[in-house]
Amino acid sequence: MSGAALIKPALNAISGVNSTTELEALRVEYLGKKGVFTEQLKTLGTLPPEERKTRGQELNEAKQQVSNAIDARAETLKLAEINKRLETEWVDVTLSPRAKAQGVVHPISKVMDEITAALAQQGFAVAHGPEIEDDYHNFTALNFPENHPARQMHDTFFLQGNGDNKTLLRTHTSPVQIRTMQAGKPPFRIIAPGKTFRCDSDITHTPMFHQVEGLYIDKNVNMGHLKGCIEDFLRAFFEIDNVPVRFRPSFFPFTEPSAEVDIGCSREKDEIKIGAGKDWLEVMGCGMVHPNVLKNCNIDPNEWQGFAFGMGVERLAMLKYGIPDLRTFFESDIRWLKHYGFTSGDAA
Ligand code: PHE
Repeated sequence: MSGAALIKPALNAISGVNSTTELEALRVEYLGKKGVFTEQLKTLGTLPPEERKTRGQELNEAKQQVSNAIDARAETLKLAEINKRLETEWVDVTLSPRAKAQGVVHPISKVMDEITAALAQQGFAVAHGPEIEDDYHNFTALNFPENHPARQMHDTFFLQGNGDNKTLLRTHTSPVQIRTMQAGKPPFRIIAPGKTFRCDSDITHTPMFHQVEGLYIDKNVNMGHLKGCIEDFLRAFFEIDNVPVRFRPSFFPFTEPSAEVDIGCSREKDEIKIGAGKDWLEVMGCGMVHPNVLKNCNIDPNEWQGFAFGMGVERLAMLKYGIPDLRTFFESDIRWLKHYGFTSGDAA
């Protein structure tokens, strides 16, 4: 076949392809080692010398033309492909950047979750009670005698009415003990996290604060179980095996015997460190549930016993995360929240 005869179909094929991969296939087909032109050039040897020269020249020119056409088409296709990518992959740099999630988890929420998780490991389930309580559940059923000074010590926010069963903001989460025991049958193993209120405000007190109550009622429960439960909990919560814990004899009308639990720490101006130094920070009250409380809930104290505890969430948060000032928890200072808050990615 003459060189001229090869050109037309080659040029048609070249202008017909629409991608660089198809074009590469054509390049191989025409110009490759086994391509059309190579095959034709191989036949030159069989021709007489005169013809060989002209035919050779013609074939080489045709080959060059096809090669140029392929190169030109390659340029066009490459450009088209780039333009297509630019069209689909463009970024509008004038858009404002996508805002990172602004919210953080407040240290109180975080610590409540951590307390719940640590106690869930010991089999405690979560219970809830109302923040607006009555005098009966907050005091009377918990064995606070009428006119007992302990009632005044609680600095109660009373809401309305002067009758026997005044409405109030609960001063502790202990009324959830009563509500749980009156609503079910022993054994009980619950914790009750929530808000509590006292009419008190100074450097170590805020009118609203958080507690987590614990109640364990079963047969043959003793003070050793109470100590073990609390020590295990504090170790798990602080993730420190030898966290210094101190049980101090104390008094609550609803437990007998009663104790307060302190954690060893050091406090220096703007820093509070757990496990070092010679200061103690009180973090909870506890004790064996008073027989009168069990009787108030129709539970026979000769058959069932147990312990209860109530911890201050803010105190535990201050210790665990080195937050020196209680009042900052409730100031809603965005800089403080950014510093002490947790994003959902933070390890639990
Ligand atoms: N309710 C007590 C308080 O607020 C704490 C406590 C709970 C003590 C349970 C003993 C048992 O101080």
